Amino acid sequence: MRLTFLGHAGFLLETPNAVVVLDPWLSPHGAFDSSWFQLPQNHHLAETVRQKLSDPSKERIVYVSHEHKDHFDPVFLASLPTHEITAVVPFFKRAAFRNEMAGFGWKRLVLCQDDVEIPFADGMLRLFVSDSTLNRDSAILVHSGSTSFLDLNDCKIHDRLGNIARAYGPITAFSAQFSGAIWHPVRYDYDERTHNVLSKKKMFSKFEAVARAIQVLNPSHFIAAAGPACFLDPDLLGENFRTSSIFPRAPTFFRFLERRLGNVATRFAEPMPGDVLDLSTGAWIHQSEERLTDENFEAYVRAYAARMQEVLASRRRNVSRLESERVVDRLEEVLRAKLERLSLRDRIRMPLFVQVEEAPDSILRVDFPAARIDRVRSMPDDGRHALRAKALDLLPLLDGKITWDEFLLSLRFTMSRKPDVYDAVLHGFLAVEAEDLPAFCDHILAAESRQERMLVQIGDRRYSVHRYCPHQGADLSQGWIEKGRYLVCPRHRWQFDLEDGGKCTFNDCSIRAIETSREEAGVEAAAAPEIALEA
Ligand code: FES
Repeated sequence: MRLTFLGHAGFLLETPNAVVVLDPWLSPHGAFDSSWFQLPQNHHLAETVRQKLSDPSKERIVYVSHEHKDHFDPVFLASLPTHEITAVVPFFKRAAFRNEMAGFGWKRLVLCQDDVEIPFADGMLRLFVSDSTLNRDSAILVHSGSTSFLDLNDCKIHDRLGNIARAYGPITAFSAQFSGAIWHPVRYDYDERTHNVLSKKKMFSKFEAVARAIQVLNPSHFIAAAGPACFLDPDLLGENFRTSSIFPRAPTFFRFLERRLGNVATRFAEPMPGDVLDLSTGAWIHQSEERLTDENFEAYVRAYAARMQEVLASRRRNVSRLESERVVDRLEEVLRAKLERLSLRDRIRMPLFVQVEEAPDSILRVDFPAARIDRVRSMPDDGRHALRAKALDLLPLLDGKITWDEFLLSLRFTMSRKPDVYDAVLHGFLAVEAEDLPAFCDHILAAESRQERMLVQIGDRRYSVHRYCPHQGADLSQGWIEKGRYLVCPRHRWQFDLEDGGKCTFNDCSIRAIETSREEAGVEAAAAPEIALEA
């Protein structure tokens, strides 16, 4: 099997009788209201991919992992001969993505359930589906002949990798997102020092998760992909060049891997769009001449931003005072609809203040337990969350052109919280669409109601703890121990302090740790998996 890197999270796999394209994000308009762009630029590959997907002598498949527009590129998909192509997507409970995919007129649209084999001309593919209502994503394993490619992209199924390796290994090539894709701490009003400390912590935590994935899977190749993107809008350009960032590039990650993993057999590669790897021989058989490096990075991004001027200018316009006030009215309506559907609103203790920059005296104050929204002229310095955005940047959201999740990923806002404590329900209130909030609340309650416990052995100490993470239900038996006391969830890497009753280190969640002997834990020996998590 031959693998061509298409840029960002895109790959083109070729076997003698088939072409399988994964997450082709190739159009030049950017994602999330033109805030993210492919890094390096890959738009020139669109025509090549179209040609490969027009070859009638081959079975042709397009896989889209999830609905985020840096993976799901409707403009590019619409340019394909879709009536000759099979599309493969995960089956999510939320219908919007599959309905949108169905509209392209594919020869066949395969809606895949988790871990089900889909045969094709020279092999098989299999999707691993993660659907928590807050995050929907999938990973793909493509197997042909003696080679296989496991592409996790952004899908956080780190707690399942041991089982996947046992069932479907060996893995020839593995790719997973190692760079961040979230608005914390990027868009929070931290001073630079705090921002840098939090960014580094987040960056290393993510690096650690992928390093562990490499250890578990032991692939021949690790291919750095699925980010980072770059931000070319003049308002966001500075994010590319901050001293510390949650968007590190591959060379930083590789330096970490060399220290962390030492001499492993896995070869690490940072491909450029168009590079081709022969998975059978392990040789890169084509490498693009233009390479992005630490040295040319800043000049490259600035020149790229200049090339994309026209795209970015097309979304800019002046918004009148009257229109800004109308934006506040519309925002209030939308937030009210969300509030009504948020059954767990009592849990959000601090009010949320939402301010449209051009209408600074008309602030929306959301009081969650009282289920009301008021207009106020100012906000307190403490005991509150706050979100501030420009009317222009809110309009695509209010017009239904982007979702709340996409608006937040656009990074076109600032947030603050005083005190600085993460609130999972507030996160869901902001990131989830109104109609999905009941399912979001149900999912939290279901995760909390899982009562299975496990025993964790650290040296000569033993703790009984909840086995499933209170955040989104990851299996904590696949986690690890840091600093001899913190149990780390493998999915989003929350830390639970075993010496403080299992309390999460940055919010109120707990896995209720009890230092105990097996007898005292009150669990059946046969039903309680005992793990000696690696310190
Ligand atoms: S599932 Fe998100 S931190 Fe555990």
